[in-house]
Amino acid sequence: MKREHYASFLSDLALLIQDEHDEISVLANVAAALKESFGFFWVGFYLVKEKEGSAPQLYLGPFQGPTACYRIAYGRGVCGSAWKQRQTLVVPDVEEFPGHIACSSLSRSEIVVPIYNKSFEVVGVLDIDSTELGTFDDIDRQYLEQLCQLLSKNLY
Ligand code: SME
Repeated sequence: MKREHYASFLSDLALLIQDEHDEISVLANVAAALKESFGFFWVGFYLVKEKEGSAPQLYLGPFQGPTACYRIAYGRGVCGSAWKQRQTLVVPDVEEFPGHIACSSLSRSEIVVPIYNKSFEVVGVLDIDSTELGTFDDIDRQYLEQLCQLLSKNLY
């Protein structure tokens, strides 16, 4: 059921983004498509940026859902940890994740997937939050990683 949903979502998404290569425009539509199709509580991107000689941080990018934190440092929270560890993090209960950043107190579980450029540097992360515990599993990880690979190919 979930597999089929993701499989058909990803083939539609490939068509949606194939002719556009502007980062913000594509990420905005991907966030909207995920939110519309799956009804997630919060879906969005944090993008790695280095500003005025200060250390690179994750900056809030296109998203759908309640307002969120602007910046996340390397290694901080789930997003900064996925960036540092260069791997997808599935968090069944955010209260059990040391250093979790609560942008919304309603968020109970989440998944964060890194996005890479051609040099295999992390350029950002996809973050999806749920108001229920244990929403995300290995199936979500597998398909959302495919989605992020599609974004890497199309944008970075
Ligand atoms: N919970 C995330 C912060 C981003 S918000 O959930 C939108 C974290 O711990 O990195």
